[in-house]
This record gives sequence, C-alpha cells and structure tokens, in this order.
Amino acid sequence: MKAVAEAPGKAIITGEHFVVHGAWSLAAALQMKVRVEATDSEKLTIDSDRFAAGTPGLKPVRDFVQSLLSEFSWSQRMRLSIKSDLPHGAGLGSSAATMVAVVAAVSRLRGHPFTVEETISRSMVGETDVHGKASGVDPTVCAMGGVVLFRRGSKPRRVVPQHGLSLLVAFTGKSRSTKGQIAKVVAVRNASQGFFDGLAGSISGVSKTAAEELRTGDLIGLGRLLAFNHALLATLGVSSRELDALVEELTSMGCYGAKLTGAGGGGSVVAVAPEGKEKRIISRLKARGIEAYQSHVPAGGVKSWVE
Ligand code: PMV
Repeated sequence: MKAVAEAPGKAIITGEHFVVHGAWSLAAALQMKVRVEATDSEKLTIDSDRFAAGTPGLKPVRDFVQSLLSEFSWSQRMRLSIKSDLPHGAGLGSSAATMVAVVAAVSRLRGHPFTVEETISRSMVGETDVHGKASGVDPTVCAMGGVVLFRRGSKPRRVVPQHGLSLLVAFTGKSRSTKGQIAKVVAVRNASQGFFDGLAGSISGVSKTAAEELRTGDLIGLGRLLAFNHALLATLGVSSRELDALVEELTSMGCYGAKLTGAGGGGSVVAVAPEGKEKRIISRLKARGIEAYQSHVPAGGVKSWVE
C-alpha cells in the first residue's frame, strides 16, 4: 500500500515577523507544492529530490518523523519519498509544506488520517524545530489552503478573494535561514520595545485592510499596502540589496506593489500586477534568469489518499 499526500507552499502577503510577536498576518497558499509518498519498508528511509541522502538538509525531517512515529507507537519501518516544486530557503514555505505533507502521508499510511487541525498542530512541532520560534502561520496556510488571516492563539479566518487573483512570486536565488532572520528581529524588539510594538500594531491594521481589499478586489489598494509593509520590514533590517532591487523592478514593470515575503535576507518577493499583465511580467523576469511564478489564488490545502 502507498499513502500519498500533497501540501501547497505559501506566500505571506502581509505581516511576517510581526506575526511571531502576536500581530495579524495575511497569507495565501501557492499552486506549487510538496508531494510525499509513504510505503512500508525494512527500516525508516527518507529520500528527497532536493537533498542527497545522508546530507544535513534532511535531518530535521528525519528527527520529526521519528518523534511522530514514536509518539503514536507506530512502526518506524517506512520509506518516505519527498518531491518539491518549491525552491528551498526561498520564503515560500518549503519546510512547512514538507512537514504538513509528511504528517498527512504518515498518518494516512498508519490508518489514522489526521484532520486539518491535527495536521497543523503536529506540523508545528517540526516547524518550531526548524525556525526556533515559529508563529504557526506557515503550516496553517499549507494545511488549510486558500487565503488566511492569521494571529497566534486566534482561530484562523478564511478570506475569499472577490475574483480570481494571481500572486506573482520571484526568487532572488539566494536562500537563507529563517532562524537567523527571526533572531535579528527579536534583537530589534529587545532594543526598542515601544518602537517595535508601534510597528506591530500598524501591521495588524495593514493585514486586516489587505484582507478587506482582497474581498472587494481592490488590487491597487492591496499593492499600496505591500509597498508599505516592505518599507517596515526594511526598517527592521530583514530586507537585502537583492530584495530591494527585485521590489523596485517589479514595481517598474507595472505591478501595483511588491514586497519581500517570508523571513527575508534573501528568499523571495511577492507582488500584485494588473489583471492580464502577469504572464508578460513573469516572462520578462525569466528572460533575465530570475526564477518567477504566477500562482492563482485560492489554491487548495493539504490532501492525502491511498494508492
Ligand atoms: O521564510 P519562511 O517561509 O520561513 O517564513 C517565515 C515567516 C516568519 O514570520 C518570519 C516566521 C513565522 O513563523 O511566522
């Protein structure tokens, strides 16, 4: 028997970093996804199209699977095969989508498929291990799909965009560690708590307004909020020369707004473009050697089945 699970990547539209400290964030599932196939085997084996066997990249997944299996007293004799459309360390949720798909495939193979809520809470364990201090927004969106307004400790709210929205995502080509970026922001917060709390309050307002603009289809207003959010993240020191250049380039190509997405310091930019112009912008970026994607929103959440 083979259990298969697929989970989408994500783009944070507004509120990354601040969400770790209790602010509201808005995030969307992407069409690019991670697929995990689980089969019974002699011993626990994990292979991935992104990391060679035995390399450190697979260690967090291996540790996570081992602790999940022992927690439920499930047999460790299993082979997991991971395939990902998502670049690693690019701020597009590759680690969260992997954890979510692993939880779904493993629980399906062992005959106890988890609910979406259970999948989120189990995946959080692996996500915290990778990120150090994680808000939970990534596994929540990768499991739920669609667009989600999220705050730590509150029930996630689903947001339904008024009409077919596409997000543009472009990768700087530079991967980085989320953990290090989170630590940078914690240092800013510790140094100037009042300043940080003011920015966090403002970002909660930005996320709620952005959700409203998605509902009403006001892409110009949404673009303005992306630009503002990018400036705040740059103030925290989590942008980079490459990210700032990509934001400027997308804006000069006609996007309504663009910002870094995820932890920053490298990784990717998310943008909204006028309807009908997306494909042209993507091909211009690709012609310049930049990895870029158009993702239709809403994309589905985690799913699993037996083959
Ligand atoms: O870059 P990513 O995909 O690891 O996104 C991290 C988002 C943060 O807000 C920086 C951390 C979190 O857990 O919310």
